[in-house]
Amino acid sequence: MDTLTNIIKSRKSVRTYDGNALSEAHRKDIEEYIKDIPNPFDIPVRFVLMDAEEYGLSSPVLSAECLYVAGMVAKKPYADVAFGYSFEKLVLHAWSLGIGTVWIGGTMKREAFENAAGLKAGEMMPCVSPLGYPATKKSIKETMMRKGISTDSRISPDKLFFEEKWEQPLNPDDNMSEILDMVRWAPSAVNKQPWRIVHKDGAYHFYEKKDKGYTSDLTGDLQKIDVGIALCHFILGLEHKGKKADLKIEDPGIKIPADAEYIASVTVPECCK
Ligand SMILES: Cc1cc2nc3c(=O)[nH]c(=O)nc-3n(C[C@H](O)[C@H](O)[C@H](O)COP(=O)(O)O)c2cc1C
Repeated sequence: MDTLTNIIKSRKSVRTYDGNALSEAHRKDIEEYIKDIPNPFDIPVRFVLMDAEEYGLSSPVLSAECLYVAGMVAKKPYADVAFGYSFEKLVLHAWSLGIGTVWIGGTMKREAFENAAGLKAGEMMPCVSPLGYPATKKSIKETMMRKGISTDSRISPDKLFFEEKWEQPLNPDDNMSEILDMVRWAPSAVNKQPWRIVHKDGAYHFYEKKDKGYTSDLTGDLQKIDVGIALCHFILGLEHKGKKADLKIEDPGIKIPADAEYIASVTVPECCK
């Protein structure tokens, strides 16, 4: 397994922390990293670190977390997808340093976090995450939660990745199969994995397969955030293999089900199919 595959596959949501603050070096690293986390939509995402004790922040699913990061983005089309992309880059960077995270979009007292983060008019703060070191043993509530939403499994590739048309399974080559596996193991709200990809005419077209109840004015569409996360894994995977990825928003007009929505397309070099 190469480094990126290893980071992506070993990352799991961490809800039980060891109660220690980040080391000085890690705190500095994260402070520097969050200053600018670009995404291909050129929509800036603003990150803020918040000490849990200082601001009285907690979440019913977490134990012994000391620090949170909140992400904020101006409300506009594609803000949620861009947010997913940039925030996930932080999640993967943190994990490459051994720092655990978990995307939190629902299980928190939202108002307290928004006040602590200094949310501005016209912005939304879709999700936050703790940043800390995983405890050696998971809390019982975390173990039960993981079981409840089958977090250790993912939908099979033939149900997610298609060739030419919706639901016609893709037969990727080895390189692409590795990259698509990085997409499969991405985190998503309630592990719904709402991303679908159709490969057609040299491009990978990304879609959101929607479930009900994931959109609000406060969070945007959480499942669009999930697609942003999937795009992040896909593009990082391509770049890791030395391929240049070009993202464009140009609906190819493929016939899709009523509960699906086109998001974006990534053109990849001829060698990857
Ligand atoms: C946009 C988004 C929102 C999420 N919100 C929550 C949340 O509110 N509470 C929680 O415990 N987990 C939340 N999660 C974490 C998912 O449940 C988790 O990523 C998924 O079950 C897969 O598990 P894994 O991250 O361990 O691979 C969220 C994930 C995403 C991507």
